[in-house]
Amino acid sequence: MAEKTDTGVQDRRLTLRVVTMPRDTNQYGTIFGGVILSYIDQAGFVEARRHGVHRWVTAAIDRVEFKAPVHLGDTVNFYARTVRAGTSSVTVAIEVEAERFTSGETVAVTAASLTLVAVGADGRPIPFRSPPTVSEGEGPGVKSAPGPGPGL
Ligand SMILES: CC(C)(COP(=O)(O)OP(=O)(O)OC[C@H]1O[C@@H](n2cnc3c(N)ncnc32)[C@H](O)[C@@H]1OP(=O)(O)O)[C@@H](O)C(=O)NCCC(=O)NCCS
Repeated sequence: MAEKTDTGVQDRRLTLRVVTMPRDTNQYGTIFGGVILSYIDQAGFVEARRHGVHRWVTAAIDRVEFKAPVHLGDTVNFYARTVRAGTSSVTVAIEVEAERFTSGETVAVTAASLTLVAVGADGRPIPFRSPPTVSEGEGPGVKSAPGPGPGL
């Protein structure tokens, strides 16, 4: 039976909101778990960036619980909450809720926890409380100046 969402959590933030499309479905007609995982990763990044304007990489996705399927046409909301802030890393809890296309009912579908690490241009961890390390003109697809590092 569908679980009604707990909206009492104060400190979580709506970080991502998407509508599921036919391309997202698996062979059963529900949404492929990997698609949800990809959005969870993005939501984690959005939350991590609040702590510092740096390159952030995902070090670990500790636990993912798929509680209920996501259906085609559902609007899916990704809520993020920082649960631990270290030196170069933060741990973010993600709660995923689906607004059913047919009924509008909100259902808790997935929960996950992931750790993201702020890294410098060389790909090594840096304290995320340091001043921004990403400058204008360094966006994705923009070729950076020659130098060491993997070019994350
Ligand atoms: C994440 C990464 C930068 C960590 O580098 P590292 O040299 O192992 O890092 P360190 O041991 O110095 O630890 C740095 C911080 O990351 C945390 N960390 C590192 N590996 C971790 C893991 N597997 N799980 C949780 N936290 C981790 C450490 O606890 C530490 O946190 P703190 O500074 O807040 O105390 C490195 O492993 C990496 O580049 N991984 C690939 C990331 C990536 O490409 N992600 C996308 C997947 S396609």
